[in-house]
Amino acid sequence: MARADRCSMTSSSSSSSAAAAAAANPLLDADTLAAYTSACQGVSGPKAHPRGKQVLDSLMKHLHAFINEVELTNAEWLAACELLNRSGKMSDEKRDEMILISDILGVESLVDTLSHERALKQTGTASSTDGAEESSKATVSAILGPFYRENAPEYPMGADIVLDHSIKSQDGNKGLTCYLYGTVTSAKTGRPIDNARIDVWHTGPNGFYEQQDPDQPDYNYRGRFNTAADGRYSFRCLVPTAYPIPYDGGAGDILKLLDRSPMRPAHIHFLIDAPGHKQLVTQIFDRQCKYLGADAVFADKSDLTVDFVEPRTQEAKDFGVDRQLCFDIRLVPDEK
Ligand SMILES: [Fe+2]
Repeated sequence: MARADRCSMTSSSSSSSAAAAAAANPLLDADTLAAYTSACQGVSGPKAHPRGKQVLDSLMKHLHAFINEVELTNAEWLAACELLNRSGKMSDEKRDEMILISDILGVESLVDTLSHERALKQTGTASSTDGAEESSKATVSAILGPFYRENAPEYPMGADIVLDHSIKSQDGNKGLTCYLYGTVTSAKTGRPIDNARIDVWHTGPNGFYEQQDPDQPDYNYRGRFNTAADGRYSFRCLVPTAYPIPYDGGAGDILKLLDRSPMRPAHIHFLIDAPGHKQLVTQIFDRQCKYLGADAVFADKSDLTVDFVEPRTQEAKDFGVDRQLCFDIRLVPDEK
């Protein structure tokens, strides 16, 4: 998951040496730091929430060790507080800068991976890397991201989620239309799942989600679909476009500080709810995208990389689309 090689650091060799020296010889020795951390943890009362205490005690331990290791200065601490304050104030129903910050630090993707692995373990479901039959491997998850919106329009099978086909990229590209279809099955039984609800969303060819772009119709490139009795779903959309995550907030400040790219490889988001199965949040990534393997939010995965191909099925030909894609989805059961 970690691809630290992509993040070209701007620090000089002398500052790297200074950091290494500070880490090897911190201002507070281990015993002094441990006593301080223990004192901070020890003030919680008998009614403390057990899980809350476990998480926050561990957070304090690692935060204190980190502060001592890098010898955080007052100015740096204040700058971090200011960045978080500003990011919180600029967040609203349409933009969540705090999630974006967690994304570029690799937090959401790690939490998501742990959640998926926990579900597989609890239910005895095979993962994509196991040697099990393909039909019994659960579809891999990927992060929700900050651009999901609830209550997208519900559409019938095969409907087009593109409400405005005139939107173009900066170089005039209107994007390729696509017929996307597949079957939702249980990774436990292999049986199709009736009435699974599929929520999908992607950006326009200009790289903007509709809530970022005042010129787009509300809920453009978003839709909800229900599977039929045979587990099938289908809709029309665009072949996705790579886009930069917003660069004008706290997340952008961090990316600039680290000389990192804001680009996300071209992807389509999915959120699937089905009776008797765990919710799956995932994304699919276009294999042709040059940013694959260099995702600003560390969400792209080889198991979720797909090929948008020329129309082959009669349905895709009948719709007159430029590409088609079959994406079958296997859900983790709710219980073992
Ligand atoms: Fe996205």
